[in-house]
Amino acid sequence: DPPTGCPVAPSPAAAGPTPALFSWEFAADPYPAYAWLREHAPVHRTRLPSGVEAWLVTRYPDARQALADARLSKNPVHHSEAAHQKGKTGIPGERSANLMTHLLNIDPPDHTRLRRLVSKAFTPRRVAAFAPRIQELTDRLIDAMREKQHGAERGSADLIHEFAFPLPIYAICDLLGVPPEDQDDFRDWAGMMIRHGGGPRGGVARSVKKMRAYLAELIHRKRGALGDDLISGLIRASDHGEHLTENEAAAMCFVLLFAGFETTVNLIGNGIYALLRHPAQRELLQKSIAAGDTELLATAVEELLRYDGPVELATWRYATRDLTLGGARIAEGDPVLVVLAAADRDPARFDEPDVLDLTRRDNPHLGYGHGIHYCLGAPLARLEGQTALATLLTRLPDLRLAAEPDDLRWRGGLIMRGLRTLPVEFTPERP
Ligand code: HEM
Repeated sequence: DPPTGCPVAPSPAAAGPTPALFSWEFAADPYPAYAWLREHAPVHRTRLPSGVEAWLVTRYPDARQALADARLSKNPVHHSEAAHQKGKTGIPGERSANLMTHLLNIDPPDHTRLRRLVSKAFTPRRVAAFAPRIQELTDRLIDAMREKQHGAERGSADLIHEFAFPLPIYAICDLLGVPPEDQDDFRDWAGMMIRHGGGPRGGVARSVKKMRAYLAELIHRKRGALGDDLISGLIRASDHGEHLTENEAAAMCFVLLFAGFETTVNLIGNGIYALLRHPAQRELLQKSIAAGDTELLATAVEELLRYDGPVELATWRYATRDLTLGGARIAEGDPVLVVLAAADRDPARFDEPDVLDLTRRDNPHLGYGHGIHYCLGAPLARLEGQTALATLLTRLPDLRLAAEPDDLRWRGGLIMRGLRTLPVEFTPERP
């Protein structure tokens, strides 16, 4: 039986919805429910808040297998419910074939071709060269947080709104080569998508439409005057004489924005939140950063990804034939959702999985996925995460939580896990 208060339906075999799985209480701490599922119903069919029925995969070995299983397609045409439910792709309010034909919605051989082309432009070297710019952006945002205090004794801020949110959007805009004067428009469109993610609303559809028109125009303009930016790199990239079409380049920019934005907001938000709730771990990290040691910083970011990562459920997959996974019989056309947050706390793979241990070395977490769709932006995410944490802990050394954990709210939506706000306090620097 489920432990008292466990929000999972008592009989996992019973058909029908398990609404408590996606309730507000569940959002605050989904881990007990996932532990129950891992043990009692590791591949569990449930009805999602949208009404769509899907399988949840919660054990580490099953999750890893599913992420790399070629029988599970990323292409929504394989969903048995032909009349596709709203928001099913995780991208609200937008069905345009143009922007939606991107890496996370396609299979080989198209995926192989597009991924090869983007990898020629979005290289680890390009990301490494971007490090000083990320540092500059990070410092600028912290300056702004400190300066607004006007000599007050205690500084306060919402770390999501003032830091975690703007950093990745400006970073991606810079990387792509969106001119500075247009970046605030991007910030607004992205803000609309993150605030209202999970359901198609008029504002979201409008924002995506504006973004699409803008990207198409920008790509067209860049083609006439190529520069050093990533969009120019995407236009230049060629593989055996093949290039991205303008539509493919626009969809690629969109997926980079879409996949690289809210994830990084949540890495910073969830990461700082976990550190503020684990003072001994935070102190260990702070000391090692002060000593100029970057090794612990690197394992810390990986552990924060495992412990409370930005992507709770991997993006949608659909069975292309009847198959068995973790003992469950999945029918052709059924959607399969891999619960990364559950797999990364599986005691069969991780020692003391519910403990935050920044020194953890044996940590093959699935926070960036696995297989051919493994996160393309992982080097950039690591750079942003490490720079953000190190700089915050150095420049705001007495950063503390300014709210009770019970009062914090988590954003709704199926795929991502992140806080709406993270109120903090700190001592502002004396002028
Ligand atoms: C794919 C996580 C940051 C671009 C993925 C996947 C995960 C993930 C789990 C695989 C999804 C699946 O298989 O269903 C994360 C996390 C991030 C992060 C936790 C931050 C901490 C970024 C950034 C970018 C990015 C910064 C780019 C600017 C992508 C792209 C894909 C992807 C393009 C699709 C790759 C493909 O289908 O071949 N990411 N991501 N991600 N990510 Fe990230």
